[in-house]
Amino acid sequence: MCGIVGYIGFQKASPILLAGLSKLEYRGYDSAGMATIEGANIKIVKDKGRVENLYHLDETKKLEGSIGIAHTRWATHGIPSKINSHPHADNSNSFCVVHNGIIENYLELRAFLEEKGYHFVSDTDTEVVPNLIHYYYEKDLQDDDLRVLRAVKQVCNQLIGSFSFEILSTHIPDHMIVVRKDSPLVIGKGEGENYIASDIPAILSYTKDFYLLENFEYVVLSKDHIEFYDQDLNKIQKHTTTITWDAMAADKLGFDDYMLKEIMEQPTSIRETIGSRLDTNTCNFSELDFSKDYLSSLHQIYIVACGTAMHAGLAIKNTIENLCKIHTEVDIASEFRYRNPLIDDKTLCIFISQSGETADTLAALKLCKKCHARTLAVTNVIGSSIAREADYVIYTHAGPEIAVASTKAYTSQITLMTLLAVYFAEILGTADAQELEAIKKELLNLSTKIENILKDTSSILTIAKDLFKEKDVFYLGRGVDYTTAQEASLKLKEISYIHSESYAAGELKHGTIALIEKGIHVIGIMTDPSLVKKTVSNMEEIITRGAITTVVVSETTLKQINTSLFDHILVVPDTAICLSPIITIIPLQLLSYYVSKEKGLDVDKPRNLAKSVTVE
Ligand code: AGP
Repeated sequence: MCGIVGYIGFQKASPILLAGLSKLEYRGYDSAGMATIEGANIKIVKDKGRVENLYHLDETKKLEGSIGIAHTRWATHGIPSKINSHPHADNSNSFCVVHNGIIENYLELRAFLEEKGYHFVSDTDTEVVPNLIHYYYEKDLQDDDLRVLRAVKQVCNQLIGSFSFEILSTHIPDHMIVVRKDSPLVIGKGEGENYIASDIPAILSYTKDFYLLENFEYVVLSKDHIEFYDQDLNKIQKHTTTITWDAMAADKLGFDDYMLKEIMEQPTSIRETIGSRLDTNTCNFSELDFSKDYLSSLHQIYIVACGTAMHAGLAIKNTIENLCKIHTEVDIASEFRYRNPLIDDKTLCIFISQSGETADTLAALKLCKKCHARTLAVTNVIGSSIAREADYVIYTHAGPEIAVASTKAYTSQITLMTLLAVYFAEILGTADAQELEAIKKELLNLSTKIENILKDTSSILTIAKDLFKEKDVFYLGRGVDYTTAQEASLKLKEISYIHSESYAAGELKHGTIALIEKGIHVIGIMTDPSLVKKTVSNMEEIITRGAITTVVVSETTLKQINTSLFDHILVVPDTAICLSPIITIIPLQLLSYYVSKEKGLDVDKPRNLAKSVTVE
């Protein structure tokens, strides 16, 4: 959560900081602030609310410095308010900090500092940091160039939790110090100027050369130099990674919202995901040295993730089991990490994460490594924490996803995981060759089929105009369609604030049907020809009780139903059943989008949410 930007160079810092914050608002948007250093003074401007507020403040116009730090906040400790906004300074106003993460032992540290005479003005966990730096700085009797850095290191050694910090100090007015632990931070290298950000898109328009920081690597930046230190403050060398994302990819490009742009981008993002991994005959995952012996030795695969990424895991579970004949479990990372899961070196653990920074998924990954399982990350963000922590990584290459509601990352995750399942099955020889050929062929057809869905969205908009007035919506499905129901329901609730539930259609009679009454809107997903009749029966039971119904069917299942039963019908192209979640979710993503627009909500920045959940 929270976004960080920093600049050190020859230009005025504040416009660069503001532009970066605007790009990072998806990480948190309840308050924002920045600070620059000018001679012997640190100037701070901050306020509650959106980044836009900062543009209008008189103090912003007065920020002249060319070294600055900035922050957009998703509140954890202390309500959104000016006083709780970042940056935070120490009592002497000689150290100033922005922080992403959570300091779990801040109360203890605060009590320690209060005893030493320090006072606090905010309710945040962060405010202990500049004061503790001041404390250690004053205790250090060696007055050399590294004195501030040593103080920062002493503080970081004492902190429990996660953090990325940008630190300014009047004692080193031409420098900035940054450090991270379990919270993202990258450095963009320029000419006579350098950039810092929690996320690459914030500074992608200035540079393509990035240093990716490991935990407890300290960086001292000036406009011309970047010096790296390990956790014992020995100097180290680091190499840049070139990021090939187009800076334009992180812009709205004329769309009203990032979410709409990202939905519309799915034909392209899926093509990018497949890339060169699939040629006419073979799947290619050359970066994985998974031998037949290793794959045959596996007792189980665990897929661990959160939210939409977890739904991608659910969508792929049956495909792996059917094609590879390996028992596959899918678990929510926040549950998995605390339940002593039965995993060992005969388990392959796969972690799906768009951002590659989700705290629970990262913790689950570390747990699996301790249990000697092989770990594989499936992520969209190159060099992210999960990518670096896992034994192996495969990238979705969906391009930057900015909207809080995940769309193109989800379809790319299922696409990539299907390719992986086919690849494993080919090595293992566990699947029928014709079936594998059919799946590969359909993978290559996905983009065109999605393009066709996106050509005419008028019927989806019509349903949205009914649906936006609802208080409760139910999604039903069986098999793969149940997975789609779960993802569609999450999409609706997160951006429209309408209460919605998803159910395996067969479960309805075991309790939920008690909630069905006249006028309630139920969305039935029925793309599996072998299960459509069963789901139709469940839908008839709710129609009898007065529900309004929308169904999503495939070209084939359309022919299997009595269309006059339903109020609205959305038809999606046929595909291999294991790929159906990729196709079927498209109209349902759009439906959620249109409902949110009808309600006049901020689609890209839904209340209480942030794009990347880097705290527990
Ligand atoms: C999806 O729309 C969500 N906002 C959320 O559930 C997300 O998928 C989840 O937080 C996991 O994020 P990750 O993929 O970056 O790990």
